[in-house]
Amino acid sequence: MVWVKRDDLTGFATAGNKARSLEFLIGDALAQHCDVLVTGGGAGSNFCAAAAAAARAAGMDCDLVLYGTDPDAGDAGHLHPNLSAARESGAHVQFTGRPDRDEIDGAIAQRGAELAVDGRRPYVMPRGGATAVGAVGFALAFEELSGQLAAAGVDPGVVVVATGSGGTQAGLVAGQAGAAARGARAYPWILGATVSRPPAQILETVTNLSRQCGALLDWPIARAEDVEIVDARGAGFAVPSPPGERARRIAYETEGLILDPVYSAKAFGVVLDLIAEGFRQPIVFWHTGGLPAAIHHMTTTSERSALCPT
Ligand SMILES: Cc1ncc(COP(=O)(O)O)c(C=O)c1O
Repeated sequence: MVWVKRDDLTGFATAGNKARSLEFLIGDALAQHCDVLVTGGGAGSNFCAAAAAAARAAGMDCDLVLYGTDPDAGDAGHLHPNLSAARESGAHVQFTGRPDRDEIDGAIAQRGAELAVDGRRPYVMPRGGATAVGAVGFALAFEELSGQLAAAGVDPGVVVVATGSGGTQAGLVAGQAGAAARGARAYPWILGATVSRPPAQILETVTNLSRQCGALLDWPIARAEDVEIVDARGAGFAVPSPPGERARRIAYETEGLILDPVYSAKAFGVVLDLIAEGFRQPIVFWHTGGLPAAIHHMTTTSERSALCPT
């Protein structure tokens, strides 16, 4: 049996899982009297669109640094809804002009420094909002899940989640360590499906962030073996993979569940792999969202006809 944690329905814009981290990131920014959120990523970044909406709602400005070139200047048919949404929220957007994703964190820091020189009070967030503060939202989400599972009498063997910048998994792992120390039942596995960074790199990031998050909450620190990652990247970040596309179609055709090709479909592919390998305990699939990318995918690729029942 697969249970789905519907963080695609968190209810703020189309932020999905990122509504949880932004609650704490915005709170921290306001506590520090910051007046502009600064972050970045790709034109299709869910986090950037969500940060822009959250800044707007909190009465702050938002400044985004995106890699690549402005698709607005080219084929409007390929304009990503997340970029449109960020602009609709009033975000200031600038592009690096280069395709290198790894440049972005440096470019974000530089933009923050420029704004500070101009007399602004920037709150600088790395890609995906992957900080210990942001991860707190997911540590509390783990507690929420524990309560829901207890109420439903479900005892899962694994929680599968898509892992990009690492904050979501880090928070869940911190939450699990806290719950275990309080004597609650600890689940054998939180399995992160990495869709962006190589497994060894993201394992280190998630472990560190999880420990920083635990320290911030004054909760027990997660053990190294609590962090497990499986490679679900396929050909690369944001490139749809055959297992992910299969998972996307199965979820849609059987449950009407919409998965995005970048994150949630690849993670659900891992769920299907576990079942195919004979995993028989209940599985929790943490649906992190990505609705704009899912719609974008359906409307810009020939794959869309494959969503019809066959
Ligand atoms: C839809 C969706 N799922 C999963 C993730 C991964 O979360 P994290 O970056 O915290 O690992 C993201 C990150 O942007 C996302 O947008």
